[in-house]
Amino acid sequence: MFVKFVFVFQVFLFISFLLCAIQEDSYTELQQDLIPPKENETKINYYADLIHRALNEADPDVVVDIAIATNVSERSAIEWAYVSRYGKSLDIELENKIGNKDLGNLMAGMFVSSVFLAKDLRSAITGLGTDEDTLSEIMCCLNASERKELRETYRVYFDTDLVKDIEEDTSSDYETLLLHLAIVARDDPENDVKSFKLKVADAVTKLISETQKIPTVSPWPTSKSPLPEVIFVNFQPIVDVFSSNSFFVIWKASAKFEQITGNELKETIRRSTSGDFQDLLLGIFQFSEYNLIFHARKIHAGLTEYWYQPNRKPLTRALVMLSKVELAQLQVIYRAINRRKITGVLSENFRDPYNSAVTRILNSYADLD
Ligand SMILES: *[C@@H]1O[C@H](CO)[C@@H](O)[C@H](O)[C@H]1NC(C)=O
Ligand SMILES: *[C@@H]1O[C@H](CO)[C@@H](O)[C@H](O)[C@H]1NC(C)=O
Ligand SMILES: *[C@@H]1O[C@H](CO)[C@@H](O)[C@H](O)[C@H]1NC(C)=O
Repeated sequence: MFVKFVFVFQVFLFISFLLCAIQEDSYTELQQDLIPPKENETKINYYADLIHRALNEADPDVVVDIAIATNVSERSAIEWAYVSRYGKSLDIELENKIGNKDLGNLMAGMFVSSVFLAKDLRSAITGLGTDEDTLSEIMCCLNASERKELRETYRVYFDTDLVKDIEEDTSSDYETLLLHLAIVARDDPENDVKSFKLKVADAVTKLISETQKIPTVSPWPTSKSPLPEVIFVNFQPIVDVFSSNSFFVIWKASAKFEQITGNELKETIRRSTSGDFQDLLLGIFQFSEYNLIFHARKIHAGLTEYWYQPNRKPLTRALVMLSKVELAQLQVIYRAINRRKITGVLSENFRDPYNSAVTRILNSYADLD
């Protein structure tokens, strides 16, 4: 009896061994898992291993938990630890192994933020039809160093020039503005009052020089005749100002523009332009007023104004690009503008792993403001 039991047990062991061997064969990289955990493992290596296991067990919650528990520099260290331990790029692993595509994108961005924008841009340009919303949202508001870094990453990663790609994929005034944003360096914020004032004066002069009054027909006879409406007759000045001046100069110049012409710059842009060109100009304008309002509006439009399914890219971009404190402020601003919380809107959208992960991330940042 005992002998029989031992035999059965041995067969059981043998089968287990075979199963392990087969599994090991299909995932050779899993071999690393078989090494017993080392003592005094650093937190970074420990997280890299946890992520590796979670991806192979299709358990994205663990990955989200680690993303919440770490800051940008720790996540970047985890990325390197992952590559050196498993010989694979963490962003590609996250994109391929987290079942939900949007969540895979978000996690790839949070852990490997250095290539996130370049990849996003590339897929906007080369995807089926150009994704102008993404193209505009990324290109509109980079400062000089971000722009330089993005172009460089794009070149290294895709072995092609961003400027060339944009030229091939867009046209007309919209293309001109995008190309300016990609090529011309935007000024850093001025730190002396004198050069700031000079730049504002220069920008206002440029903007006004290419406007024209249009006759207005007032529906009511008024005692005081209103200032005539103006439109832009040539877009070169606004393209120049909006792509090369600092956001602070754009903001101040728009106030002066209104003082002088009696017309809001924003309304003048609306009257004079249309389509993607207009959206991009208004995006830059909004960003110059307050970057978090820009993000709040893009996120809200993506989540609520859709035809087929929500566009979560603006929300994903905000989660990847903004700091935890900014994300806390963003939630307050979003609520003030839209009278709803981001997490509330998400809960009204269909439920899936992306929505629940983002809700957890946003809730964990909500108290930082
Ligand atoms: C772990 O670290 C502690 C303190 O640094 C040290 O005393 C201990 O010997 C280490 N253990 C191993 C197995 O290296
Ligand atoms: C990230 O967290 C680590 C460990 O908690 C800390 O030492 C580091 O200063 C943090 N880095 C940033 C940029 O906040
Ligand atoms: C450009 O933007 C990045 C990211 O927001 C920021 O860290 C950097 O300080 C900015 N550079 C300047 C000159 O404002």
